Amino acid sequence: MEVRSSSPTTMGEPSPSGRFGSFGGRFVPESLVGACKELEAAFRSAWADDAFQSEYATLLREYAGRPTPVTECRRLSDRLGVRVLLKREDLAHTGSHKINNVVGQALLARTMGKRRLVAETGAGQHGVATATAAALFGLECVVYMGAVDVQRQALNVFRMNLLGAEVRPVDSGSRTLKDAINEAMRDWVASVETTHYCLGSVMGPHPYPWMVRELQRVIGDEARRQCREVLGGDDPDFVLACVGGGSNAAGTFAGFVDTRAALIGVEAAGGAAIGHGVPGVVHGMRSHLLQDEYGQVLEAHSISAGLDYPGVGPEHAYLAEVGRARYVEAGDDEVLDALRLLSETEGIIPALEPAHAVAYVARAAGDEIPTGSTVLVTLSGRGDKDAAEVMELLG
Ligand SMILES: Cc1ncc(COP(=O)(O)O)c(C=O)c1O
Repeated sequence: MEVRSSSPTTMGEPSPSGRFGSFGGRFVPESLVGACKELEAAFRSAWADDAFQSEYATLLREYAGRPTPVTECRRLSDRLGVRVLLKREDLAHTGSHKINNVVGQALLARTMGKRRLVAETGAGQHGVATATAAALFGLECVVYMGAVDVQRQALNVFRMNLLGAEVRPVDSGSRTLKDAINEAMRDWVASVETTHYCLGSVMGPHPYPWMVRELQRVIGDEARRQCREVLGGDDPDFVLACVGGGSNAAGTFAGFVDTRAALIGVEAAGGAAIGHGVPGVVHGMRSHLLQDEYGQVLEAHSISAGLDYPGVGPEHAYLAEVGRARYVEAGDDEVLDALRLLSETEGIIPALEPAHAVAYVARAAGDEIPTGSTVLVTLSGRGDKDAAEVMELLG
């Protein structure tokens, strides 16, 4: 397959130093520079290799359950006055879009001769997906998870254990995703000869933001074809996805970036790195980041563990800067309302993360999203993992 050339507004390849405009790059300790270069070379050659592409496509089809459908939401559309379509990543194996990325990275790890995967996880979905791929490929797997997230995502911890992975709770900092990333990176530094760091979003040092976006591009490519079928050859007016690190949004946007669709990323109000952050360096990349006047990373807060992250992938910072995508926020209460709304009108219980995107559509319909518009929302995952927490919050 041809690797697309460098024009970041069309979501092609970043610059040779891994930049999207002034964002991205590779801010890692000396000991990881070689590992990042090895990974970049392995990905570049695999992505251009028909045999790799064909094995990846077969796994996505036969194992992950792709293509996922696009569902027209008739009752919700009637209620909101806009035509809502959902891209159903909740129906992918393991219950979220995270499987697309890890199947690709596990294949790469095998190509590079690595026997062990380490990963970080917030909501637990990326951890479950990584543990799943590790089992599929017979690789050892260690997942770092903030102690707070271990509590609120107990079901996913259990699933990872069942799949044969070791979950290591992280007690430093805010004991959430950003701290888990720090620990996973530390592990990788110490074990780089045998270990692949299976990063879960479009963040971290080059080549991760580019590689993970390419592995998630399948969401947008499929959705574009499917929307055209449903909409009689048209693209949607609005394309939305929630943004934690930004992988489901990047994969979705990649399919629509060269259409007239307005691209909207929805951040958690308490973790809005584009909304409230400033440029800085974290986790190996330069991007927008919640930080104080001394450059110390601030703690994010969201009811959804997967959006509880003070940074954002660098390509999103770039898309915001050049104005190709817009980033908005949703707060905890309206997210719970949206979760209930989608459940009651369509019989689909979303994860808390994509409920942010639904919440924004519910708020903006008839206003920033004019009545009669067509709207595609990527439903990045299903709500089972959040059921216990939501039960408590809704009483
Ligand atoms: C269902 C779901 N959606 C979204 C996210 C956020 O990740 P990203 O922004 O990389 O898609 C997560 C993260 O755990 C998730 O589990």
